Amino acid sequence: MPYREAWTGHAAQLDGRAAARSASSGWIPAAARLLRVAGVGLAGVAAVWVLGSAAGATGGAFAADGGLSTAAAEPAPNPGTALVTGSDRGIGLALVREFQSRGWRVIATCRDPQKATELNELVKTHPGVSVEKLDVSDNAAIERLAARLKGHPIDALVNNAGVSGSFAGQSLAGLDAEEFAKVLRVNSYAPLKVSAAFLDLVAASRQRKIIGISSGYGSLAFVQGVAAAGYPYAYFYAMSKAALNMGLREFAFENASRHVTTVLLSPGAVDTDMQRDVRSYMSGLGRPIRSPTLTPAQSAHAMVLTIERLKPGENGKFLAQNGAEIPW
Ligand SMILES: NC(=O)c1ccc[n+]([C@@H]2O[C@H](COP(=O)([O-])OP(=O)(O)OC[C@H]3O[C@@H](n4cnc5c(N)ncnc54)[C@H](OP(=O)(O)O)[C@@H]3O)[C@@H](O)[C@H]2O)c1
Repeated sequence: MPYREAWTGHAAQLDGRAAARSASSGWIPAAARLLRVAGVGLAGVAAVWVLGSAAGATGGAFAADGGLSTAAAEPAPNPGTALVTGSDRGIGLALVREFQSRGWRVIATCRDPQKATELNELVKTHPGVSVEKLDVSDNAAIERLAARLKGHPIDALVNNAGVSGSFAGQSLAGLDAEEFAKVLRVNSYAPLKVSAAFLDLVAASRQRKIIGISSGYGSLAFVQGVAAAGYPYAYFYAMSKAALNMGLREFAFENASRHVTTVLLSPGAVDTDMQRDVRSYMSGLGRPIRSPTLTPAQSAHAMVLTIERLKPGENGKFLAQNGAEIPW
């Protein structure tokens, strides 16, 4: 699906107006040019920019289904077994619920299963969901879990666990080196390590899909738009997601011969602890972010449909939650 299809009506008209203004100089025309190339209207951007991507909005407001068109377009489920990292809260928990509701078996991993109250409640009533302990910054734990799951094919491996890092610590006044190492370890290195460790199990499955949950912050093309929409310059987070993109893109091409489809998927701006943290940081600076967010359920619904529809030809791509391609 071309990226522009995620945008309709009002946003498209604004693209035209932005194009007319772009004859003069300054950051707004520059951003307009950038976004026009990306097929994004300025009003749409202001309305939806994220710790993630802009795609999925219509005319500056999110459709109730997160930008997916209508119920008529809803495909039949294509269930298999999914493994999700960082699934005790936020987007990860919503992904587990969504996979489960569409008939998938789900291996929900998290750092501390004993404290994962909502996951444990889900397991009680849904035998297709199991919980496994996994800290993605612990290589030995990754290897142990992969060995224990040997013989259990994984159709969709979703590298969701992530951290934003402290926003002050990654401002130009901070640039805290330990914080940088932590953010890179969890957001960039761990998804590659997890993907490598579970590769044989994915390659043995029917669907053979690996997903890295990325962000619009990781797009070189869009980073100016993120700031223009009121989000902070989050150096470490942005660098970590760009590194994730490159790592899994290399991984995608190296493993294409095993018929594994690997993509980067951006969830959109989603109302989770991470999104609330960035908003509270900006409010504290007196510059609150007012653009709307998706609920975790809306984002997860769109992403699971995109995962179910993934085709081998999309290997190595960077996609928005609704499957629209995002420029690097
Ligand atoms: N929310 C957004 O608007 C947005 C936009 C774009 C991209 N994203 C991306 O979406 C993903 C999920 O974000 P979210 O918004 O749901 O964030 P969140 O509410 O802060 O949840 C983060 C999840 O990652 C887990 N996690 C962190 N470090 C971990 C580790 N070392 N090992 C295992 N799990 C770990 C957390 O587990 P604990 O409970 O143990 O801390 C938690 O389950 C992240 O990759 C994020 O970068 C989010």
